[in-house]
Amino acid sequence: MKNLSLFVLLVLFTFSCNNANKSDYSAAKKTKEAIEHPGRKLMETNCYVCHNPTASHDERIAPPMIAIKKHYINDATTKEAFIAAMQTWVKNPNAEDAKMFGAVKRFGVMPKQAFPEKTIAQIADYMFNNNIDQPTWFEAHFNEEKGKHNGQETGNSMGEKKSKV
Ligand code: HEC
Repeated sequence: MKNLSLFVLLVLFTFSCNNANKSDYSAAKKTKEAIEHPGRKLMETNCYVCHNPTASHDERIAPPMIAIKKHYINDATTKEAFIAAMQTWVKNPNAEDAKMFGAVKRFGVMPKQAFPEKTIAQIADYMFNNNIDQPTWFEAHFNEEKGKHNGQETGNSMGEKKSKV
């Protein structure tokens, strides 16, 4: 009997979740896809040595990936164009082509490293389609630097967390 009522409770619980939180489910699915995207791992392995989201603002040796994303992608940028831009940059990082002048000034131009094209394509694909982890200091810093920026990444979880504080 006890087992039965537990079972009923469980069923009820599952149902209410199903009905009330459909969007949570699709969000969870999206998160799962993001976590499993091969570009995520490749980015963490190849780029986070320098571009990680956890180093504090003062201890950084390169901008976080979210900053790169925001400089390279606007509403008109297609995924193909973004992937191409990333390929071009990684093959030949140089001060003339750099879009992040502040970063070049602070950190020096990114050192040239050999990455397979496929690796960069996967990383760029991941970056384009998914929210990139951002450091807690980033949003305020970004808004400060780019007063006119129109908030392309409004759905970002860090932003939500911050606004509750
Ligand atoms: C050894 C450190 C290091 C690694 C590893 C690294 N980068 Fe960078 N990267 C930098 C630095 C420093 C900058 C900032 C200066 C600049 O823009 O050149 C930068 C800037 C960039 C930029 C912006 C360029 C611009 O327009 O100014 C892109 C795009 C970029 N990195 C992509 C990548 C990708 C993709 C990876 C991994 C495959 C990667 N980086 C790995 C150091 C690194």
